[in-house]
Amino acid sequence: YITKHMDFSLSEEHLMIQQAARDFANNVLLPGVIERDEKQQFPTEEVKQMGELGFLGMMVDPKYGGGGMDTLSYVIAMEELSKVDASASVVMSVNNSLVCWGLEHFGTEAQKEKYLTKLATGEVIGAFCLSEPEAGSDATSQKTTAIEKDDHYVLNGTKNWITNGSSADFYLVIAQTYPEKKHKGINAFIVEKGWEGFEIGPKEQKMGIRGSDTHSLIFNDVKVPKENRIGEDGFGFKFAMKTLSGGRIGIASQALGIAAGAYELARKYSKERKSFGTEICNHQAIAFKLADMHTQIEAARHLVYKAAWDKDNGNNYDVSGAMAKLYASQVAMDTAIEAVQIHGGNGYVKEYHVERLMRDAKITQIYEGTSEIQKIVISRGLLQD
Ligand code: CAA
Ligand code: FAD
Repeated sequence: YITKHMDFSLSEEHLMIQQAARDFANNVLLPGVIERDEKQQFPTEEVKQMGELGFLGMMVDPKYGGGGMDTLSYVIAMEELSKVDASASVVMSVNNSLVCWGLEHFGTEAQKEKYLTKLATGEVIGAFCLSEPEAGSDATSQKTTAIEKDDHYVLNGTKNWITNGSSADFYLVIAQTYPEKKHKGINAFIVEKGWEGFEIGPKEQKMGIRGSDTHSLIFNDVKVPKENRIGEDGFGFKFAMKTLSGGRIGIASQALGIAAGAYELARKYSKERKSFGTEICNHQAIAFKLADMHTQIEAARHLVYKAAWDKDNGNNYDVSGAMAKLYASQVAMDTAIEAVQIHGGNGYVKEYHVERLMRDAKITQIYEGTSEIQKIVISRGLLQD
């Protein structure tokens, strides 16, 4: 009864986007990916090209310089880039699904003109600043304050773990204006790099996604014009939650890409490497690992595409996005570990890529809501009447 509404084939347009993203990943990202990981080097030139190819504002309305594409196009492209370089794909995810989406859906026309047009074309990139030293999972416990004064707000506090921390030009910053109102007193603001009192802390030394620049941000009496507040007074926490619901689909597709990339490398290696007189894929222990990996990746892909489809079709995607992220991130971790195992000793050295994918996989279980937080979101959604 349901099959007549189901079509598992991708459209010509989706296939073209997939091919373009795959070519970009293999031709542009792959050559320097090991070196950037080693040196913790941001992919500056590569991100510029991503902007030129339209990967940084894929879903934004063309009138603001975006590609006007659907969420499915975005997750397909995210998967391809993430197979090769998750440091580059997190830049893409944050810019598309947190910064551009948040501004396009809740910003004023003037904010969109001034900021979104530059972000969607990749002329500049953005950052999304919610987490603090004492407010990670517990995101309503914002300590950064934004106090109203004349025609502006005065921002004070520290944000932690901010992706694109030093490479961004525009920052969406969440802060508390009325502590007594708890989450209903929180606001969101657009802050520009270089404003007086805005300081960027040192770069974090990370296990994975080492090409991505993660920094703390310090605000010391930063004056933010009132017209840079996003939405109604007190809308900031809802803004963050609504934006993150879509962001999680982006990270789910990143996790899917890491898993698929690790699987593809392991499959290829298993058909080349020989032991006991035969290719290792002929040992059932290895073949069964590949069977498990492929099955789990396919299941993850279905969840990711379904969440994207929900978003594109006006359905609620809080739960489907959280399920996609929860499951795909677990599959990324499990698959990457098995890919290292299939590579034997070679899996443990950098030139075979799978050790990096294993280190990169872990972050997908932590950022944009840990796996434990996804289970809170899913179970609350299920228990709602
Ligand atoms: N859409 C709209 N509103 C939402 C919402 C959603 N998806 N989820 C919650 N809300 C609203 C609630 O309705 C409630 O508002 P009302 O009182 O008006 O009804 C308000 O938000 C508070 O919600 P809760 O009572 O559920 O709050 P809570 O304290 O129990 O926590 C939480 C909710 C889901 C755990 C939330 O704190 C959370 O998501 N934590 C994780 C934070 C996170 O994901 N951080 C990611 C940072 S960005 C990042 O990581 C980027 C990157 O790495 C690349
Ligand atoms: P905590 O909240 O302290 O959690 C510690 C542990 O306790 C976790 O296992 C958690 O799941 C568990 N836990 C906490 N509360 C509960 C509960 N109620 N029930 C069950 N278990 C619970 N943030 C941004 O705002 N913008 C960014 O761009 C950004 N980029 C990031 C990039 C990197 C590389 C990293 C590492 C983090 C980034 N983050 C960013 C922050 C990230 O979103 C947080 O690290 C994450 O939300 C977890 O918060 P926390 O680190 O404070 O952990």
